[in-house]
Amino acid sequence: MCGIIGYIGKEKSKPVLINGLKALEYRGYDSAGIAIPTNNKVEVRKSVGQVKVLEKSLANGNDFNGHLGIGHTRWATHGSPSEANAHPHRDCLGRVFVVHNGIIENYKELKGYLQNQGHNFLSETDTEVVPHLIENFLNSGKDFDTALFDTLKMIKGAYALAIIDAKNPEILYAAKLSSPLVIGVGSGENFLASDPSALVGKTKDVIYLNDGEIAKIKQNNISITNLEKQETPFEIVRLEWDLEQAQKGDFPHFMLKEIFEGPEVVRSAFRGRIKSEENLVKLGGLEQVANELKQVKRLLILACGTSYYAGLVGEYLFEEIAKLPTEVHFASEFCYRNEPFDKGTAVIAISQSGETADTLSAIQKSKKHGLMTIGIVNTVGSTIARETEAGVYNHAGPEIGVASTKAFLSQLTILAMMAIYLSKDKSSTKVLLEELEKIPEKIKIILTQSAKLEKLAEKYKDYENFLFVGRRYNYPVALEGALKLKEISYIHAEGYGAGEMKHGPIAMISQNFPTMAIVPQNSVSEKMFSNLEEIKARKGPIFAIATEGDEKILELANDIFYIPKTIELFEPLLTVVPLQLLAYYIGTKRGFDVDKPRNLAKSVTVE
Ligand code: M6R
Repeated sequence: MCGIIGYIGKEKSKPVLINGLKALEYRGYDSAGIAIPTNNKVEVRKSVGQVKVLEKSLANGNDFNGHLGIGHTRWATHGSPSEANAHPHRDCLGRVFVVHNGIIENYKELKGYLQNQGHNFLSETDTEVVPHLIENFLNSGKDFDTALFDTLKMIKGAYALAIIDAKNPEILYAAKLSSPLVIGVGSGENFLASDPSALVGKTKDVIYLNDGEIAKIKQNNISITNLEKQETPFEIVRLEWDLEQAQKGDFPHFMLKEIFEGPEVVRSAFRGRIKSEENLVKLGGLEQVANELKQVKRLLILACGTSYYAGLVGEYLFEEIAKLPTEVHFASEFCYRNEPFDKGTAVIAISQSGETADTLSAIQKSKKHGLMTIGIVNTVGSTIARETEAGVYNHAGPEIGVASTKAFLSQLTILAMMAIYLSKDKSSTKVLLEELEKIPEKIKIILTQSAKLEKLAEKYKDYENFLFVGRRYNYPVALEGALKLKEISYIHAEGYGAGEMKHGPIAMISQNFPTMAIVPQNSVSEKMFSNLEEIKARKGPIFAIATEGDEKILELANDIFYIPKTIELFEPLLTVVPLQLLAYYIGTKRGFDVDKPRNLAKSVTVE
């Protein structure tokens, strides 16, 4: 969703801001803008559409020459995508300039109040109340810092703010509440961003702002206070990600690059954490709660989208391996549940970005009920990573493609390790760990056959509907396969447990409605074959993901993609890969920008 970049330092801020905005493009946006103090005036430029449009409009002229600046990519919430609604927003006199992520819930009251005071608004946004409120306090004789603090105390909702005071272009102001903001610490320069990936290549040293904190960032100094103006200590954290990970390299899209990172991603998730020869899973991030975890009687997994589907696989894994009753909920629905909570329940929140607002509020609700919260998070230092009591990082590296791919594999790997870690019966641990170690090589075998999937994508790309079916461990994979296809190719796709087909969806089957069947040889393949017979009888085309050597499937499916054999519990780690590739190829063949699908944002920071 919206992205923020800020800069103060030895360089001219314009190129730093433009590059930062480009790095934030993957989050999804519809307009962009920057503000840079230059020669006693703050220059503002905004444009609708891509950052390159903004960049082009700034190509000539010397009017954006300052060394301080703020920039923003906007994903419309209040008001249409337009130049007027794009950030930065300003006060009446052109002293205060603001970019904002989040939602100001009481903006209507504040706007009415400010309009009565004579303030003139230029946009439909909630954000615009911020510069006017600051101006209002300045008009009443307060200094800038007090005006800012008093403004923040009046705002209800969520904000990450970057602010410029034209009268003091030596300071970049920042404030945070429930929306992420990170300061990049450089030498003779400092940065601000809503997402550390915008800082890659600039600095690896960051400070994560906490809720209720306000930062005054100067070229060579940073100070952070709370809303009571008391200084708060901060820690500088070293980022692990490097420039290469955040670039496409030779791949045409991040999505393809990230699918091809699958083997390494699985390896990074288990590296240093499993020892098959010693029957051992060691999850350092859970050590501090290890004793408490042993007492847990029930697990609750909370997540959204792809992370939710990973959670559904986790449900099967925890019940099978750790014998722990497990439930999975959409984080966005969890707030409406009034179930009686039991202290013996632990919550596992799964999130690639670590910033998903729904997941965050589900964690907050769980904490209110006294439940232990554990995170499976990819983004180091993100809000969910910090809000949960303990957790396991994915170590998958930045996922830039909006459609989540490698994060899913990494989440599955961690869930499998957690299930083994929590299991009291260690008799199957060795077999499971030895097989987990083989998974990266098996994914590689699938990836070497990507050309077959590209060819099949040509055949299937013009259908407008798809059914995805699987059973047991591959039921969540059917859901995830359908999500991938609809996200990036805009084809209607539905995922179902194959047993549910006869209860309704089979009515849709015809020669124009193909089925993607996930049917490896396992405990449920006979039942899957019966379901495929039913589809075949209704002339529905079948594309099957099957185990190499399976000949029976030849009689049923029109097209088959073979995957290597693995144990049933780990099948999703293999079966999802061809579905990700197929979605990618169909999306690109239909001519879409798969890295930036329409209407979607990478990090969904509103509920
Ligand atoms: O960052 P998170 O894992 O919390 O994100 C959850 C969903 O928003 C995300 O998985 C979304 O569904 C993706 N577009 C899936 O490809």
